[in-house]
Amino acid sequence: MDANHSLVTIADLTRQQIEYLLDMASQFEQRPNRLLLQGRVVATLFFEPSTRTRLSFETAASRLGARVIGFADPKVTSGTKGETLKDTIMMVANYADIIVMRHHLEGAARYASEVAPVPIINAGDGANQHPSQTMLDLYTIRQTQGRLDNLDIFLVGDLKYGRTVHSLLQAMRHFSPTFHFIAPVELAMPDSYKRYCQREGIKYVEHEDFDADVIAGADILYMTRVQRERFSDLMEYQRVKDRYLLKADMLCKARDNMRILHPLPRVNEIDFAIDDDPHAYYFQQARNGLFVRQALICNALGVTLDDVCNDASILN
Ligand code: CP
Repeated sequence: MDANHSLVTIADLTRQQIEYLLDMASQFEQRPNRLLLQGRVVATLFFEPSTRTRLSFETAASRLGARVIGFADPKVTSGTKGETLKDTIMMVANYADIIVMRHHLEGAARYASEVAPVPIINAGDGANQHPSQTMLDLYTIRQTQGRLDNLDIFLVGDLKYGRTVHSLLQAMRHFSPTFHFIAPVELAMPDSYKRYCQREGIKYVEHEDFDADVIAGADILYMTRVQRERFSDLMEYQRVKDRYLLKADMLCKARDNMRILHPLPRVNEIDFAIDDDPHAYYFQQARNGLFVRQALICNALGVTLDDVCNDASILN
């Protein structure tokens, strides 16, 4: 966590900070509607499209009594007249107590946190990081497995451009995981992240096959969408986009505890027939985003876990 309480990258969080935030989120799961942020203003600046992240942040703020301002489409802002990101951030900081921002440029959230007088929460910066998604992924993993330590986590699909897998990899360094990377060669986990694993002592195995025998070893099967918006060559996207589709018969050897996660949106990675399978957990995972984002906003605004535990307010 930055000195000004910004959350730019998951790599900044210690194990203790992660567990503290997950514990706070757990309080919000028990009772989400409170008055803890009455009088505060939360700004959501989405320079890139979003459904879950923006709406769950806005719901999180609303359910805590805060007001929300912002935009979901940069075309309606003065950025179209040439206003810089710095000036936009400085203006919004005049109005809001905290800024949640998604931007297509890697490093945009870091830059915003350096110029803004209020906390910034990175809601995704290019192919780089998506720390609030990672926090809800960790929450969901702990919820379904009863622990975060010593798990076999299989990452499937677009491991090159998928910011959620990059953030998850970094967060799990505290918890002795074994990662399995399943991707077409064109979308393999970048060497920089493999070197990160080696430096941090994170075990990993690479596979190209994706079948029942491979899936049999998973505690978490984390599916991802091929990120069309990051390709400069759409022919290359067409070649790889449907390479790994999870079908029901591929779960025949899966462990009972195995859960299928996906940051969503899903395009063609998980057959709809799997939605009713007990291993499917991606919709509950998205729901957890609300509680985790309540914790992230509160923490950034100086509300502590004790405050949350001792709070008896009810938002009607
Ligand atoms: N998981 C996620 O970031 O979804 P959105 O793009 O809909 O926010």
